[in-house]
Order: sequence, then structure tokens, then C-alpha cells
Amino acid sequence: MIDEYSDRWALITGASSGIGLEFAHRLAARGMHLVLTARRKEKLEELAAELLTRHGTKTEVVVLDLSEQAAPARLYEEVKSRGVQVELLINNAGFSVVSDIASTDRERVMEMVRLNIGALTDLTYFYLPEMMKRRHGGIINIASVAAFQPVAYMSAYAASKSYVLHFTEGLWAEARDQGVTVTALCPGTTQTEFFDVAGVEGWLKKHRYQTVDQVVKTGLKALEKKRQYTVSGWGNYFLSLLVRIATRRTVVVESMKYFRPQPPKEKK
Ligand SMILES: NC(=O)c1ccc[n+]([C@@H]2O[C@H](COP(=O)([O-])OP(=O)(O)OC[C@H]3O[C@@H](n4cnc5c(N)ncnc54)[C@H](OP(=O)(O)O)[C@@H]3O)[C@@H](O)[C@H]2O)c1
Repeated sequence: MIDEYSDRWALITGASSGIGLEFAHRLAARGMHLVLTARRKEKLEELAAELLTRHGTKTEVVVLDLSEQAAPARLYEEVKSRGVQVELLINNAGFSVVSDIASTDRERVMEMVRLNIGALTDLTYFYLPEMMKRRHGGIINIASVAAFQPVAYMSAYAASKSYVLHFTEGLWAEARDQGVTVTALCPGTTQTEFFDVAGVEGWLKKHRYQTVDQVVKTGLKALEKKRQYTVSGWGNYFLSLLVRIATRRTVVVESMKYFRPQPPKEKK
């Protein structure tokens, strides 16, 4: 019953594009007021104006780089100072780094770990205890189908999403009898800016993908049903089960074919 959240506030990280942007549209359509956060200010302000016109809901914009260690605490304090009580937290901001070992940008990987794991964990621990005290609230943490297996050439990303999945499931068990649901949403390939940011432009042209609409619907349904996790799409769900049957060696060796960097084409 996501409608129980109508006229209450949700906080969405990474609301300036892709899955986070779609969460903003869907939740505002159901009457939720939103705190939108990401780094691109203009995108968030445009979205806030659009939501006001379409749905008449309230929006607060907080521009932040959540990979900075102190940013989640700054966000929490800022939201509190604006008098907002967060009833639904969508921990969505995240990105991937795809590369082989020799050309890996170590700094960029650490930035990813701070965002995908650090900020998500910090924000969860800021808001979850308050929700449990009120015996009302929900958190959706965005994991991935990559959470179910190691993936060569995006090893740190896949591992970060395994963290998100396991962290969320543990908290789901702890919070379930206290009126709060913590759900991990695991999308497969989805049509967003994700692959361009990861450095694998063209991926969407060569692979089947889901739309953000499909992914977000799945996530909200899982929250309503108080599920510990959900995989978006039957094909992706099947894949998440298949990797449990195969040997770990087979799974990781097979994964190499997806993101192996192509050698640069020789000029004629
Ligand atoms: N697309 C897929 O195939 C796929 C599959 C599985 C899981 N996911 C997960 O889904 C989530 C959303 O990704 P998406 O596919 O919607 O990709 P996207 O279109 O690239 O959106 C990523 C969002 O995260 C924000 N973000 C990135 N770095 C940030 C930072 N340092 N501080 C604050 N915000 C930051 C971006 O906003 P700014 O650039 O404005 O900061 C943007 O709003 C991610 O956690 C991703 O891992 C995606």
C-alpha cells in the first residue's frame, strides 16, 4: 500500500536521471512530497518545477556529491533543518567502473565504493532507527542482478551490489516486525545513462534491456508486499537462480565475456 505514503515525504538519491528520476515521477503521481538529491542542480530544479505543475506536490532540492564522506550527514541535517520527516528512503545513486586491472582508475573505484556502499549505509542508519521508532516507513536500496555473482572487469561494482543486497536482507529481517520494510531492488540491464557513465557506450544497442518504468514498478510492488528483495524481469530472475546451480568457477569465467575491454581497432 504505497498509498499509505501519500502526503508524506520520500528522499530519493540520484534523482537527476534514470531509475531515480522515474521513482520521482511515480511517487509524486501518488501524492508524495520529495527530497531530490544528486550533483546536477539544473536537472533537479527542472524536475521539481515539473512535479509541481503536474501533481502539485512539494519538492526540496539538495545538491550534493554523496561520494564525499561527510555528505550523507550533511544531507540528513539539511533535510531535518527544512522540517521534513522522511517516510520513504530510496537509496538509488550509484555508478559502475568497467575496466581491466592495468587500466583501472583506483581513485574512481574508491569514489564508487564510497557512493554505492558508504553513502547508502550511512543514510540507512540515519533514517531506519527513526522509522522503527515511529513503526512506519520504508527503504528501497538499489542493488543489481550483478549482486548474485562476481563479474569480471566490473569486479568492485558487482561486489558493491552484493554488499547492498546482503546488507538490505539482514536489515529487512531485523526491521520486519517493527512496521518498517527494507527492500533490495535488483535490476538487470536498464535503459539509463548508467552504461555511458561506466565507459561502455553502445551496450544498450547490443543487449536486451528493461525500461525504468518496468524497474520502478517492480520495486514499488516489492515494497508493498514487504519483500526482502526483488529482481526486475523474469529473465533476470532466472539468471539470478541459474548462477546458484553452476560452479563458482564457471560463473566467473563466463562473466568475462560481457565486459572484456576490446583492443583498439588498428587504423588502416
Ligand atoms: N541501468 C542499469 O542497467 C542498472 C542495472 C542494475 C543496477 N543499477 C543501479 O541503479 C541505480 C541508478 O542508476 P541508473 O541506471 O539510473 O544510472 P544513471 O542514469 O547514471 O543515474 C545515476 C544517478 O546517480 C547520481 N549520482 C552519481 N554519482 C553521484 C554522486 N557522487 N553523488 C550524488 N549522486 C550521484 C546521478 O546524478 P548526478 O550525475 O546528477 O550526480 C544520477 O542521478 C544505481 O545504483 C545503479 O548501480 C542500474
